[in-house]
Amino acid sequence: MYRIAPSLLSADFSRLGDEVRNVVASGADWIHFDVMDNHYVPNLTVGPLVCEAIRPHTRAPIDVHLMVKPVDRIIPDFAKAGANVITFHPEASEHIDRSLGLIRDSGCQAGLVFNPATPLHHMDHVMDKLDLVLLMSVNPGFGGQKFIPETLNKLCAARARLDAYEARSGRRILLEIDGGVKADNIAEIAAAGADTFVAGSAVFGAARDADPNRYDSIIGAL
Ligand code: DX5
Ligand code: ZN
Repeated sequence: MYRIAPSLLSADFSRLGDEVRNVVASGADWIHFDVMDNHYVPNLTVGPLVCEAIRPHTRAPIDVHLMVKPVDRIIPDFAKAGANVITFHPEASEHIDRSLGLIRDSGCQAGLVFNPATPLHHMDHVMDKLDLVLLMSVNPGFGGQKFIPETLNKLCAARARLDAYEARSGRRILLEIDGGVKADNIAEIAAAGADTFVAGSAVFGAARDADPNRYDSIIGAL
């Protein structure tokens, strides 16, 4: 089973509630919510207030991708704001196990995000606290970048780790991909092992030009 998680980073921020409703009506499974702090990544976006503002507009899970440092003190705020999934980068946390525990204790699903050059071994000793693993296929900070092809090998390696974990624990950890996902590369990304696909510019860019209120065609193509 696959999930499509449109990233609001490429949405029209002047009408986010409409964007969220439209994209879910067009078939989106999750809403991907990119949080950037102009410190861990060179861009600045939105915080818990905006998450809280979009929460009443959909029942779809809100997938909060934290690109902030430090991470711990903002986790409870996002949980209160209605997040369902919270992920962070291991480089941004002093204590990865503690941050994952904080997310789960706040009632959300927890995930680790791996930048293109971040090795997968950061997940090794925290698998029992992971609900998902997110591989970045671009360097974080901006929408509309090109998919880094080496990510396909990394996806295969991550898939093998998660399958081995599932075989011994009976627990499935989702494998999400973020960055440069388009209609013309999503099939090979899925073949490499991803089951959850973030797509920002692909969903909110071209599709909106065709019809400002519908995203069926692009989500259908993904
Ligand atoms: C990048 C963000 C992504 C971004 C993806 O740092 O984490 O979620 O919005 O945008 P596209 O799909 O345009 O690469
Ligand atoms: Zn993201």
